[in-house]
Amino acid sequence: MKPLALVFDAYGTLFDVHSVVALCDRYWPGKGVAVSQLWRTKQLEYTWQRSLMQRYVPFSSITEAGLRYACAAIGLDLSAAQQSALMQQYLKLSLYPDAKPALATLGGCKLAILSNGSPDMLDPVVAASGLDKVLDAVLSVAEVSVFKPDARVYQIAVDRLGVPKESIGFVSSNCWDACGAKAFGFRTYWINRAGAPLDALDATPDHTIALLTDLTALIG
Ligand code: LAC
Repeated sequence: MKPLALVFDAYGTLFDVHSVVALCDRYWPGKGVAVSQLWRTKQLEYTWQRSLMQRYVPFSSITEAGLRYACAAIGLDLSAAQQSALMQQYLKLSLYPDAKPALATLGGCKLAILSNGSPDMLDPVVAASGLDKVLDAVLSVAEVSVFKPDARVYQIAVDRLGVPKESIGFVSSNCWDACGAKAFGFRTYWINRAGAPLDALDATPDHTIALLTDLTALIG
């Protein structure tokens, strides 16, 4: 069945959060990958922890906090100028190479992003990538002040796109996000670029594919 809307996760699915590695490596030679990986790990952990604590702050604050933690844990000095430059990198993250070719073939239904990102982060990165020209909506958890995989987040797509959940296809390379969306009731597509094992969350995504362009054969 062809979905009436396709809703994409942003960070890690369309945008490569590890496009910050080059600048990290310039600041801390040989440590770029380690900083980027721990930065991303803490960024996600803080979203889950803050949701449970009911202490929402925008994803931009969480992203800064994750960077500070990563540098402290690895034993690196982070100046205010470096923090600011790295946060600027987040506003021009690279798209994965399969993102634009996939989106180009998936017209005919509504296309949207639904992300933990706050509008101050999402709007610039979407505009810088040119995706604003192909997307019908860029939706943020900021509307409900809680992070994925809270069901209230996925409900934003239903409400804002005016499409029933059964007719929404949700695409994420974050397995836990695809599982959360499946538990909510979306048809789900897990983009498993790394060949990772499935998260054991009792909510198996409907489809597991390696690349965004593999969506075309399934629903294009
Ligand atoms: C997002 C996170 C999961 O874009 O990366 O929502």
